[in-house]
Amino acid sequence: MNKTLIKGKIHYVGVNDRNKYLFENMLPLPYGVSYNSYLIDDEQVTLVDTVEVSFFEVFLQKIHRLIGNKPIKYLVINHMEPDHSGSIRLIKQEYPDITIVGNAKTFGMIEGYYGVQGNQLVVKEGDTLDLGYHKLTFYMAPMVHWPEVMVSYDSTEQVLFSADAFGCFGTLDGGFLDTRINLDKYWYEMVRYYSNIVGKYGAPVQRALAKLGTLPIQAICSTHGPVWTENIQKVVGIYDRLSRYDADEGVVIAYGTMYGHNEQMAEEIASELSARGVKNIVLHNVSKSDPSDIIADIFRYKGLIIGSPTYNANLYPGIEALLSKILLREVKGRFFGYFGSFTWAGMAVKKMAEFVEKSKFELVGEPIEFKQAMKGDDFEKAAVLAEAMAKALGH
Ligand code: FEO
Repeated sequence: MNKTLIKGKIHYVGVNDRNKYLFENMLPLPYGVSYNSYLIDDEQVTLVDTVEVSFFEVFLQKIHRLIGNKPIKYLVINHMEPDHSGSIRLIKQEYPDITIVGNAKTFGMIEGYYGVQGNQLVVKEGDTLDLGYHKLTFYMAPMVHWPEVMVSYDSTEQVLFSADAFGCFGTLDGGFLDTRINLDKYWYEMVRYYSNIVGKYGAPVQRALAKLGTLPIQAICSTHGPVWTENIQKVVGIYDRLSRYDADEGVVIAYGTMYGHNEQMAEEIASELSARGVKNIVLHNVSKSDPSDIIADIFRYKGLIIGSPTYNANLYPGIEALLSKILLREVKGRFFGYFGSFTWAGMAVKKMAEFVEKSKFELVGEPIEFKQAMKGDDFEKAAVLAEAMAKALGH
């Protein structure tokens, strides 16, 4: 059995990273990550993307096991982020006559990152490259996730090499085809990957989906995660919903707390939401939850409530950072409520009012501000805010 074959003459030659703690030095990798590369063993042998440079030796061995000492004619670079382009310079050393295929923006980045020159084939929207059996057509997909991104489509076997699009965190343990592995871990990791890495670029993703929507696709070969064959509709559906900022019914309550008072308010609102029929409720203590999980949940659910103590006449630092991440990703279409506390001079609630002005959220209920500990009618205010949120969600 040929364990590397995908379709036609296309083989998987990617690698798994179980060493790295933080992707982009920020995002935890509890299940690791794969860097996918594909080798097309056609009349014109072609490599599609490379891998992170520390895996070069393993990568090269995989290539040699497939093609021996045959030369590689083309190296197609769909995306220049170094987790995929990192081995370009070493591939060029190994195969000096290789022709790098990219668009006009690709080559400036290759020069800037790796100082690599030599044979180049500059392609633009709709250009094709005949490899013998396979025929690649190139489509530009700027800002999915960098400006130079393009995708390559093989019309012979209807395979899409999609760069980061449709990717997810999680190593490929054993098989790489979605039909041969347990997919459970990937679905949430796809949301966390999309929302944290590509999340800002919803509109470009929508444009790319519209462009690619007319192509018949039998397999999606992304740069991270499984090769999708039987789950294409589901995967495209997830990316479509996330890039439209569409979300499920449910509420995220993210709070900062030093001595438990804002947590008590969060719990009070959550219990009232539950009593009113909201089942999907996620509470995040911003000092404990990883920001990537909070962002993923904000992409998953329609309701968002944020609570913060006043700290140094400002927001609690973890909340300030979270609000900045939300604005950067231009998250829209959320019902939003907020609360905050202070000991001698209230600023957290004022700062969140400024956030609402900048955001694309619909404010529900009355913001709650309380002094020191919760008492008196603070409990009633929590119930009123929860009621407004539950109603906005259709309860
Ligand atoms: Fe996996 Fe945008 O690189």
